[in-house]
Amino acid sequence: MAHKFASLVLLLLALTTGSLQCSTDTDCSLNGVCSRRNGQCVCDAGWRGTDCGELDVQPAKRDNGYNRTDENISSWGSKIIQDPHDKNLYHAFIAEFDNHCGLDYWSPYSRIIRAESHSGPDGPYIFKQQVVEHFAHNPTVVYSPADQRYLMYYIGCPQPNVNETCKSPQFTCGPGNYVNGESGISVQKSKDLRNWEFVDQVIQGKDDASWNADFTNPSPWPSCSGQQKNQGGWPWGFGWGKPKCKDSDILLAYRGCPYNCSGAEQISLASAPSFYGPYTHLNNDEPIFTNDGGSEDPFIWQDKRGNYHILVHSLEPEGGFGGGPKVGRHAFSRSIGGPWKFNNETLAFSTKVEFDDGTDIDYYRRERPQLFFSDDGRMTPLFLTTGVQEVGSKMSYSVIVPVRGGRGW
Ligand SMILES: *[C@@H]1O[C@H](CO)[C@@H](O)[C@H](O)[C@H]1NC(C)=O
Ligand SMILES: *[C@@H]1O[C@H](CO)[C@@H](O)[C@H](O)[C@H]1NC(C)=O
Ligand SMILES: *[C@@H]1O[C@H](CO)[C@@H](O)[C@H](O)[C@H]1NC(C)=O
Ligand SMILES: *[C@@H]1O[C@H](CO)[C@@H](O)[C@H](O)[C@H]1NC(C)=O
Ligand SMILES: *[C@@H]1O[C@H](CO)[C@@H](O)[C@H](O)[C@H]1NC(C)=O
Repeated sequence: MAHKFASLVLLLLALTTGSLQCSTDTDCSLNGVCSRRNGQCVCDAGWRGTDCGELDVQPAKRDNGYNRTDENISSWGSKIIQDPHDKNLYHAFIAEFDNHCGLDYWSPYSRIIRAESHSGPDGPYIFKQQVVEHFAHNPTVVYSPADQRYLMYYIGCPQPNVNETCKSPQFTCGPGNYVNGESGISVQKSKDLRNWEFVDQVIQGKDDASWNADFTNPSPWPSCSGQQKNQGGWPWGFGWGKPKCKDSDILLAYRGCPYNCSGAEQISLASAPSFYGPYTHLNNDEPIFTNDGGSEDPFIWQDKRGNYHILVHSLEPEGGFGGGPKVGRHAFSRSIGGPWKFNNETLAFSTKVEFDDGTDIDYYRRERPQLFFSDDGRMTPLFLTTGVQEVGSKMSYSVIVPVRGGRGW
């Protein structure tokens, strides 16, 4: 009773002094819960800030990620996957540019490669194999429990005759874009992360006036992805405990923009009964939020409570491509159908990366956010991967920073 009374006094105090931060979990970005006791957010591991809207990033190892700029080789973004059989082996799927071309020539020189790390999820990663020849870009790899396959979603189509000297010709990989071939999503599948089989270009853009005629930046979320991995059947175990997930639905976040990307870049969702398709638009074909000033590079996941989250590269004036620090934003929704809330107040991450030797780099560009999560079913973000370009450099690489919890906190 005394305890309850004390809580009430605290609550009244919070109300009268205006320090009440939240009334529902939505005020905590669905990255935590709103404490009824004092009206303050209690953030889940990996998130911080009064509204839990900021990734709890920590200083990175200096030799993290995938950085071949000393060989004049540029890359862009990475997706980390832990090997199913060797817990000390991590794979990264990365867009790397051929012919020593810099970031400006991502199209058509980008190809998809696999690199390996035995030094933890944050690398350093060493090149192992080419997975898809140029032009193939924007790879992301997910495990689909129902299919017992790894799925790689990416953009592009083969362009065998690129010029030896860096040049960006106009070409198309299908409807929606005739300038740089970015429109249209392809899928490959694999059982072992090393041998990949082309499935199809599963989504095409459109040659019409719609806001999402140019369809790119895929981010798939297979059903049951967040389940504790040792309950999912091969390759995570033999399915003791919970029954194996058989739901093959794929949710897909993407970035759309008008024909030839001649207008606003915005985010929406499609879904399919299996990775083969057919993919249908959710949300009546509209962007899922419009208070963002433009966004691209969505990365989607479902948390332990069943809520949905998206990280984006923000194109707002003080972010975008060299415009300033506001590059990382977070949006969230209690259900796939929305309403989605785009957090335009708290920055999820900025252009600045701190290193454990006390130095830092304020990057010119920092994009393509992707997270590596804990496999205990809690979906704690452990590492943040991004593509980065330093001020005054034509080259780019992939940086991987720990989120609190990721390196033994
Ligand atoms: C990446 O490599 C370049 C060239 O070796 C170096 O200047 C840069 O500092 C490296 N980045 C990091 C984060 O160490
Ligand atoms: C890297 O390679 C590109 C393409 O060949 C070339 O234009 C550029 O000068 C090279 N940069 C360095 C630092 O060697
Ligand atoms: C490559 O570019 C050079 C310089 O513009 C041009 O002379 C050459 O014909 C091009 N080669 C091909 C195969 O397009
Ligand atoms: C799209 O770009 C191509 C190549 O520049 C051009 O031929 C075409 O007219 C453009 N279409 C529109 C609608 O802008
Ligand atoms: C932030 O979003 C809200 C709607 O959610 C909008 O009313 C407000 O104008 C936005 N602020 C900025 C600075 O864009």
